[in-house]
Amino acid sequence: MTDTEPAVDAQAVDPEVLRERAVASLIVARDRTTLLTSCVEDPDLTAQHSPLMSPLVWDLAHIGNQEEQWLLRAVAGHEAIRPEIDGLYDAFEHPRAERPKLPLLSPAEARTYAADVRGRALDVLERAAFHGTRLTEATGFAFGMIAQHEQQHDETMLITHQLRTGPQALTAPDPEPVPLFTGPAEVLVPGGPFTMGTSGEPWALDNERPAHRREVAPFHIDTTPVTNGAYRAFIEDGGYDDPRWWAPEGWAHIRRHGIDAPLFWRRDGRQFLRRRFGVTEVVPPDEPVLHVCWYEADAYARWAGRRLPTEAEWEKAARHDPAGDRSTRYPWGDEDPGPEHANLGQRHLRPAPAGSYPAGESPLGVRQLIGDVWEWTASDFLPYPGFRAFPYKEYSEVFFGPDHKVLRGGSFAVDAVACRGTFRNWDYPIRRQIFAGFRTARSEDA
Ligand code: AVJ
Ligand code: FE
Repeated sequence: MTDTEPAVDAQAVDPEVLRERAVASLIVARDRTTLLTSCVEDPDLTAQHSPLMSPLVWDLAHIGNQEEQWLLRAVAGHEAIRPEIDGLYDAFEHPRAERPKLPLLSPAEARTYAADVRGRALDVLERAAFHGTRLTEATGFAFGMIAQHEQQHDETMLITHQLRTGPQALTAPDPEPVPLFTGPAEVLVPGGPFTMGTSGEPWALDNERPAHRREVAPFHIDTTPVTNGAYRAFIEDGGYDDPRWWAPEGWAHIRRHGIDAPLFWRRDGRQFLRRRFGVTEVVPPDEPVLHVCWYEADAYARWAGRRLPTEAEWEKAARHDPAGDRSTRYPWGDEDPGPEHANLGQRHLRPAPAGSYPAGESPLGVRQLIGDVWEWTASDFLPYPGFRAFPYKEYSEVFFGPDHKVLRGGSFAVDAVACRGTFRNWDYPIRRQIFAGFRTARSEDA
């Protein structure tokens, strides 16, 4: 551990603290999974709502199957409960479009199986406590990874709910209204090295490791994510009709698919409507734009005379504390996220207005870096220097390369356990169903 990384291990690697955090995180995740798979009837669980997504019942049994493989078998040495189903729930064996054709467990069987695995996993945790066995860091990590994996699928399942047509099945209170944000539109991040990634965060995944120094030239970054209102100005200015703004592959893509607005938007006279979890509403101008692909974000930025931030720039804006030359866990410091800091955990089913969460801003005053919308960055998903695949190459390593772009910061749909200043998400640059928006940047001399 260097003095340029926060000392998280002092409290969090205490095995008893880890154990309690593991149990609590597993319970929060399962409550969410249960809600997402019980708010619709069985036919909606087995149907495929989009070829981009699995049937919800696949996610449910896959959550249980990964928990069985990574935790019960790999860590606790248990025998397989149902070895014949492993192949069905292997994401690499069957692409999403094929999954509804597989002989999947029924909703009732999937629920029973996932609950059975969870019961055994909690036994492993409890028995260790009863016998006074101290959790090792690796065992603690396995539980943390399982909780994060389930929460990632809870976000995936929420995407499936958004793609599903039909009446509303999920509700949540809206974020607090805030006065229109009137602070500076952008913030200058000074140049110089900073510490990117982490070595000490106990539940950080392999692709976030290790901590390393990065040189970043001075740049300006938007104080808030780009709003629907700002994005609409790009549309009204003919942004989707002008190849000047688009990467050539992006231009070809939007032409081929007739894309002329964010996914789920529809023009209605002088306004835009959007469909959100079964409800049609007027697009709110002050909310961060959502459901745009990387090519749309890139084109908007060029139209605005700006560019997307690189991944290193994003992380420096989010974690660098100029006062101490050290990188914090979150923009607001090292404290775990609370409801005052960020819109996370599906507490709300939409982003909060731009400028919300002043308590969550970075030392330089950048807001909403964590939560609300995933933010596309200019960068390809690549390993950090010194990367080591853990526990499997299939988690991150097989996705490294120019095909995937990095997204940062998490959305309203991701739980705090799967979101950190160092957390890296990735997807294809054409993807729009994910809860992604963006903010823009410019080099200091540009
Ligand atoms: C990190 C969101 C890209 O959904 O493919 C879930 C997370 N990995 N199961 C994905 C994941 C294995 C992953 N993303
Ligand atoms: Fe998975």
